[in-house]
Amino acid sequence: MSALKPWSGALSSPGRGSGSWRCWWWWWWVVVVGVAVGSGDPWLSAEACPSTCSCSSTRISCVDPEQGINAFPVLQSEAEMENITDIYIANQSSFSSINDKDLHYYKNLRNLTVTNSRLTYVSKLAFQNNIKLQYLNLKDNNLSSLSWRIFRHLNISYLILSGNPLHCSCENMWIKLWLGEEADTQELHCIEDGGGRKLLSTLVLPNCEVPMATLSPSKVTLMEGDKLDLSCTTSGVPSPELIWNMALVTNYEIQTSGQISVLRLSNLSSLDHNCKISCTAENIVGEKESSLLLDILFPPKITKLSDAIPDHHWCIPFSVSGNPQPRLEWFLDGKSVTEGQYIMTMIHDVTEREYHGCLQLDSPTHLNNGRYTLLAINKFGRDQKEVEAHFMRKPWDGTEKDPYYYVAEDPTTEGPPVEPPEDRVAVYVVVGIAAVAFTGFLLMLVILKFGGNSKFGIKGCALFQNIPVEVVSR
Ligand SMILES: *[C@@H]1O[C@H](CO)[C@@H](O)[C@H](O)[C@H]1NC(C)=O
Ligand SMILES: *[C@@H]1O[C@H](CO)[C@@H](O)[C@H](O)[C@H]1NC(C)=O
Ligand SMILES: *[C@@H]1O[C@H](CO)[C@@H](O)[C@H](O)[C@H]1NC(C)=O
Ligand SMILES: *[C@@H]1O[C@H](CO)[C@@H](O)[C@H](O)[C@H]1NC(C)=O
Ligand SMILES: *[C@@H]1O[C@H](CO)[C@@H](O)[C@H](O)[C@H]1NC(C)=O
Ligand SMILES: *[C@@H]1O[C@H](CO)[C@@H](O)[C@H](O)[C@H]1NC(C)=O
Repeated sequence: MSALKPWSGALSSPGRGSGSWRCWWWWWWVVVVGVAVGSGDPWLSAEACPSTCSCSSTRISCVDPEQGINAFPVLQSEAEMENITDIYIANQSSFSSINDKDLHYYKNLRNLTVTNSRLTYVSKLAFQNNIKLQYLNLKDNNLSSLSWRIFRHLNISYLILSGNPLHCSCENMWIKLWLGEEADTQELHCIEDGGGRKLLSTLVLPNCEVPMATLSPSKVTLMEGDKLDLSCTTSGVPSPELIWNMALVTNYEIQTSGQISVLRLSNLSSLDHNCKISCTAENIVGEKESSLLLDILFPPKITKLSDAIPDHHWCIPFSVSGNPQPRLEWFLDGKSVTEGQYIMTMIHDVTEREYHGCLQLDSPTHLNNGRYTLLAINKFGRDQKEVEAHFMRKPWDGTEKDPYYYVAEDPTTEGPPVEPPEDRVAVYVVVGIAAVAFTGFLLMLVILKFGGNSKFGIKGCALFQNIPVEVVSR
């Protein structure tokens, strides 16, 4: 795979004792190649792939049983590893584990095969960084168990585990449940304590069940400031761990006894409207989650009303919260604004609890100038805010340079784009090569001038002729 191979052929057949010009060219190649290698330029990088494996830009394959590997290959740069989608390892008798960080840089890995090797251990964090992993083939290894937690964040479509000495233990029960009929297609067996083999699909164990979690009540609609008790009931053997998961502004406390846990919320905050509360039960066989979205009723709040900004249309931006959704009304200097084709309220974005939008004005004139009042109303209350807006000066009022607009700040305007660093590195490399080549040229002139047909010239050249072989074979 060495990118340097084509060069080495040319370099290893120098025309000894020939004219100085030929000599000069060898010398020049050496310098250029030397600089390129030294600079670590990717298109000339050597040792991108371990010698016992073969690599393309997207695939690594290690199948040579003679010169085995005992860990995943590490390529020269992170960028190269990020391009790999497929790793294939077979017949590696010293390959026994996949550890926490082994696959850390292979972010785009989709297919992983480790087969006919001695894989005995897979860390729970082995695939932490490989969220695109879909196809995992661990056929014919030495795995006695595998935890479902290894895969909890993944969306695996294929898992091949045949030919492993899996124990008939509760820890492997999830494999039977997850693979379903596929377990028989793969002829998955497990090994009992006595040493007997049985089909995994027939595995039945006492006290080995997927847990359950149930939240009650399962729906809530409450007023801001109310209190709420949520209880989560879990079941399953071995008895599961119970985990609440939420990010709330409202104060709460949790009381757990046995398989039941109560979450007590007091003085519900409207900031928690539409927040998710979940309760998860987790044991060695698997996990179940039960969740609800808080529906908190609260009166409108205008959280933003800002100066008009000229865009495609003019816009008076606002943000309003409230549940149920508030009705919006506008007033200009106290008089109700009639919305229509040229002036209308537009909602552009709805988040968990806020409505973001504009009072949109199409070609406003000085008649639209004035004090705008936004009124937001729902059945629990109302809120109002005011903002002054000037779109166009009155015709006789024009003493300033720009009579039509006042210029709103445009936050997207920035300085001139900065050159990406890669480009600058490339420039440095090119300049470096040029400088070295030029120095070589000067030296060459000196050699021509003082060397002529003397020994000095040939020796000088021969000295450099040794270098390429070293550079290339390192
Ligand atoms: C990674 O892949 C992209 C697109 O296929 C390519 O442009 C880039 O040169 C590759 N990077 C490396 C380090 O191979
Ligand atoms: C691994 O070795 C077996 C025989 O030991 C051979 O049949 C198989 O083709 C090899 N696999 C690869 C991918 O080279
Ligand atoms: C992954 O491997 C499967 C089976 O060998 C193959 O069908 C699929 O095309 C591979 N996918 C990628 C992304 O290499
Ligand atoms: C297989 O794994 C077991 C532990 O589970 C270990 O004792 C044994 O040495 C391993 N066998 C080989 C051939 O690596
Ligand atoms: C999981 O993968 C399947 C098929 O590969 C796909 O249809 C599904 O959308 C994926 N789900 C997620 C959450 O990525
Ligand atoms: C409830 O919370 C609000 C603010 O979130 C606070 O102003 C109020 O005093 C609280 N009421 C009680 C009874 O704690």
